Parts: sequence; C-alpha cells; structure tokens
Amino acid sequence: MSANYALEARDLSVRYGGVTANDGVSMHLAQGEIRGLIGPNGAGKSTFIDALSGRRAIAAGSVHLAGSDITALGVVERRLLGLSRSFQRTSIFPGMRIGVQMELAASKIPDADPDEVMRELGLDRLAGRVADEISYGDQRRLDIALALVGRPSVLLLDEPMAGLSVEESMKLARHLRNLARNWGVSVLLVEHDMEVVFGISDSITVLETGKLLAEGTPDEVRAHPKVREAYLGSAA
Ligand SMILES: Nc1ncnc2c1ncn2[C@@H]1O[C@H](COP(=O)(O)OP(=O)(O)OP(=O)(O)O)[C@@H](O)[C@H]1O
Ligand SMILES: [Mg+2]
Repeated sequence: MSANYALEARDLSVRYGGVTANDGVSMHLAQGEIRGLIGPNGAGKSTFIDALSGRRAIAAGSVHLAGSDITALGVVERRLLGLSRSFQRTSIFPGMRIGVQMELAASKIPDADPDEVMRELGLDRLAGRVADEISYGDQRRLDIALALVGRPSVLLLDEPMAGLSVEESMKLARHLRNLARNWGVSVLLVEHDMEVVFGISDSITVLETGKLLAEGTPDEVRAHPKVREAYLGSAA
C-alpha cells in the first residue's frame, strides 16, 4: 500500500456512453515529483485529469490523496484537501486586477497567502495590472498561481504551455521545477512538446486509446519499444 504517495489512481475507468476514455489506468505521484502525461490526441489525458480532480464521474477504480480515499469527494472538497488543477484561462477574469483575483481565490481557502504565491511565480510586480493587459505567458502563470493558492500538495496541469513561445515555456518549466523543489508540490503535466516534457519530468506516463501504454523515467519511456512504435520514433 502507498500512504506515502501524494496522489494515486488505482484502475481508473471513465466512459462517455460507449467510449471507454480511461480503461483501468493506475498512476502514482510521489511528493515533489513532476510526472509527464503524454499520448496521442484522444488518448484520454484530459479525461484522466478531469477524473482525478473530481470533475468527471468514474465508472470504476479509486483515487487516493496522501493515502486517503477521496473517490467519493467532489471538486471543491478535493481542492480544499490539496488537490488542485489549472483551467485553461477560464479561471481568469479579464478586467480584474491580478492582485484582486488572487485575493478572491484566497478568500475561499483557509490560511491562504496569495502574496507568497505571486512572489513564487514572479507575478508580484503585476499585481496592479488587469488580466487582459498582461502577456499571454503571464496569463498562463496567473492561471497556475490561482491553482496554487493555499499551497496544494498536488497540481494537475492540462497543457499549460499551449500557445507559449519556447522561451515562455522554458520559464514556466523553471517555475514548476522550483515549486516541486521549494514547496514539495507534486505535478502531473499534460504536454505535447516532447522536448519540454522529457526535459522537465522525473517520470512519464504514456496513455494510448485510454490504456496505460508505458511508464517510467524519461530514459525508460524513451527506450520503450511500444512508445517508439506509437510515436514512430518522434518521441525518441
Ligand atoms: N465530453 C465527451 N463526450 C464524449 N466523448 C468524449 C468527451 N470528451 C472526450 N471524449 C472522448 O474520449 C476520448 C479521450 O478524450 P480526451 O479529451 O481525454 O483525450 P486527450 O488525450 O486529452 O486528447 P488531446 O491530446 O486531443 O487533448 C476521445 O475518444 C474523445 O473523443
Ligand atoms: Mg486533452
């Protein structure tokens, strides 16, 4: 058993009508680990994040946070227990000042310190600006900052680097590494850019058509015959 995992999914299955989007997927995240979640379009990555965060009902399996079974809990309860995720821009209010948005997020979580989160992500100097006037890269960081209010133990990120320049992606990757190291946050990162995901991750999980195809260190996954086959060499 695994009370020392920050997050664990056991045999998780999710169905959309007749489509089995996740088929008995197991995964674990250690404290401070960054795990990349990769796979072709439609492999079930977003579904997996939705199921872990409590946004999507599961057909079978269980989810455990620091050893506690949280399968029956909803999104808000999971968030208060330290399982957080970012939403692509939807959590940002365009016309609202960044500092005010952070305070609003913090007002929903006991003992949250929004200033500390803004400092950690380098957003403190932007506190007085409104969200639709900052760069897209800064908006992506604001999205993650909102998810980090209350210092969750686990952060689920679904393509947080989509639309960023290489430079902005590298900057965000450095922030994620620092968060894992300084705050012990465990990160599950869905990312299509193989260079980024193999570069930043401690471990990698590969999904294909809803099933676990491979998992291990970046080197192990890169060398995995099934992964090489699925990606026709492009990931390797
Ligand atoms: N709301 C939904 N209703 C019905 N089917 C869905 C729904 N969302 C996803 N699916 C299907 O479930 C499967 C997994 O989709 P999912 O979005 O989880 O994949 P993904 O790995 O995130 O893909 P991508 O890389 O394109 O984001 C796909 O076959 C998809 O068509
Ligand atoms: Mg997706």
